[in-house]
Amino acid sequence: MKISVIGCGYLGAVHASSLAKLGHDVVGIDIDQAKIDLLSSAQAPFYEPGLPELLSETLTAGTLTFTTDMSLARGASVHFIAVGTPQQEDSNAVDLRAVESAFEGIVAHLSPGDVVVGKSTVPVGTAERLAEGIEAVGAHLAWNPEFLREGYAVKDTISPDRLVYGVRPGDDHSVAMLDKVYARALAHDTPRVITDFATSELVKVAANAFLATKISFINAMAEVAEVTGADVTQLADAIGYDARIGRRFLNAGLGFGGGCLPKDIRGFMARASELGAGDALNFLGEVDAINLRRRERMVDLCREVLGGTITGAKIAVLGLAFKPDSDDVRDSPALDVAARLAELGGHVRATDPQAIETSRRLRPELDYVATVEEAARDADVVLVLTEWREYRDINPVVLKSVVSVRAILDGRNCLNPVQWREAGWTYRALGRP
Ligand code: UGA
Repeated sequence: MKISVIGCGYLGAVHASSLAKLGHDVVGIDIDQAKIDLLSSAQAPFYEPGLPELLSETLTAGTLTFTTDMSLARGASVHFIAVGTPQQEDSNAVDLRAVESAFEGIVAHLSPGDVVVGKSTVPVGTAERLAEGIEAVGAHLAWNPEFLREGYAVKDTISPDRLVYGVRPGDDHSVAMLDKVYARALAHDTPRVITDFATSELVKVAANAFLATKISFINAMAEVAEVTGADVTQLADAIGYDARIGRRFLNAGLGFGGGCLPKDIRGFMARASELGAGDALNFLGEVDAINLRRRERMVDLCREVLGGTITGAKIAVLGLAFKPDSDDVRDSPALDVAARLAELGGHVRATDPQAIETSRRLRPELDYVATVEEAARDADVVLVLTEWREYRDINPVVLKSVVSVRAILDGRNCLNPVQWREAGWTYRALGRP
């Protein structure tokens, strides 16, 4: 099929190249010339395992092209809208300007029978509002939310765990077109839910709200564990054996960040309030608050280990990305804690395998170094704030010769306390004695 993908950020770039890999003829369109230049030369503008190889393969095969010229969407029969929907600067609500301008831009290039497919995460009611302009030219609208995780984006796109199509009741044409796009996943029995616009929009934010709630639930248990001497990691193991609960997303620590969970729960609350259903989602305010309290607790723990004062202490920060295998520092708990410690007068030396450049753009005032050894040299305390494999594998015996004081704070419950204590370190973590 000939397909256009409008918006070549995280979602769009991965979606466009994955569809090209599946055998479709894809054009990726974005207003950012620099991004298009990078993508056209098979370079990903962000760190995502497998994406550069996929770009290179599909660009060479000629099944993928990138452009800033919206008119090149003409002739495609399916047009995916994959632009960003960030949080507004002065409120919790979603900034829909990019979605609106993508819809305005595509409409002039549509032919009757084309299907415009929204992939961006939008407040419920957006598709209904945008459908009119699309339908006026004889095209169809569908909403097809995306559930990819950063770090696994290519795999999640090529082999999704479910497909959701939000369509007008009886719009068999859009369903048939989407089935052709996703023929390979459907041949592997991927579950498919066909529903209306509103449900499809809600599925996405409900899924992220559930995941955020699950993380904050275990972090709330960590708060209680901290005042009782209990161990939240054992608690998570024990409740996780109950198949109805499940162990995944019960890792207590610094909490969630990134470009999705935080802004999605806030946007969901804002939209529910507009619709008069704000009370139904009041609990998400608490989910957000529990999450942010973990960052304060980490700063407090650091102060405690340093004997009451952060000012002047040499602090090594290992990890800046919001999670491992990503260079994304949007709303990153790790970068936030590093910045707070520096603001409190700590001499922070921070490192990350991928996220130094992205961190520097947001927090130019911090001192970044390339390696664990440089960060930890003469440190009074070492903080692990993102659970990269190389930090989980650090040998405490080797690291102790580098630091000034053997104190390790495990912000992600990713280290083995026994091993660190046996090597003579003071080991402290969130939610553990
Ligand atoms: C999330 C969802 O998992 C995806 O399904 C969704 O498609 C995506 O948002 C989106 O809306 O685009 P992502 O932001 O890539 O994906 O990251 P997650 O793997 O969900 O992790 C989010 C945050 O939660 C990270 O900061 C991670 O460290 C934290 N987390 C995760 C925990 O603190 N504990 C856990 O047990 C799991």
